[in-house]
Amino acid sequence: MNYIYNAPFMEEMKKTTANMYRLGWDERNGGNISFMLDEKTVSVYLDLNNVIRRIPIGFEAKPLVGKIFLVTGTGEYFKNISDDPESKLGIIRIAEDGCTAELLWGYKDGGKFTSELPAHLMSHMARLSVDPENRVVMHCHPTYTLAMNYIHELDEKKFTHSLWEMCTECIAVFPDGVGVLPWMLCGTNSIGEATAEKMKEFRLVIWGMHGIYGAGKNLDEAFGLIETVEKAAQIYMLTAHLPRINTIKDEEMKALAEHFKVNYRKDFLNL
Ligand code: 13P
Ligand code: ZN
Repeated sequence: MNYIYNAPFMEEMKKTTANMYRLGWDERNGGNISFMLDEKTVSVYLDLNNVIRRIPIGFEAKPLVGKIFLVTGTGEYFKNISDDPESKLGIIRIAEDGCTAELLWGYKDGGKFTSELPAHLMSHMARLSVDPENRVVMHCHPTYTLAMNYIHELDEKKFTHSLWEMCTECIAVFPDGVGVLPWMLCGTNSIGEATAEKMKEFRLVIWGMHGIYGAGKNLDEAFGLIETVEKAAQIYMLTAHLPRINTIKDEEMKALAEHFKVNYRKDFLNL
């Protein structure tokens, strides 16, 4: 067996969570990540017949039976993950019944997966139904995105439009826009279902006055989407109270989207 601490997926997870902490997106235990792993790759590091614990997940995830995920632990601080991954992270496989997680590695001090597992697994199911390449769901509390939630209408079209206006390349990075949910009780199946519904249409979903979800084919893609929204929100917040003299016009955004040949939400522009 190879040493799992140095597995590329583990290195990537440690680096990503450390960066997210450094950027101020994950105070205390804020934020969580689920990263679908390839069974063959994991079998190089772990005996897949050795189930350490079985943990009920509280909902049914039949389409994910047999799938293996590296998932952050509930209550764990992102700032500490790289120093002690075996306590702060876990590798789980969705059991045959679709309702149980089989722990294959991690959560060493008796912990368990994030309280937001419903939103993660339901979002994986939703994304996989429209994009078979999707492997990552990421949640965090980026400062400026959150600040913008308090002073901007929580309307998908208007919110996306304001973000697109803030950096030239926004419309090329997230042409599908951002989905927006109102404030809801977190850690529940209901917010999971609402998030997954949005994830059929968007790779980014704002949880009103809470944070953001991003999805992608790898950690970099999910991170990059959130990073771009956060940058745009930062510029919005730095300028919202000042007179706006210049702006990127809708025709210019359209030209950019066409130049990059992205399938953008035409109904989110006012043309
Ligand atoms: P967990 O510690 O359970 O992952 O929760 C953090 C969080 O951000 C809840 O939305
Ligand atoms: Zn949160």
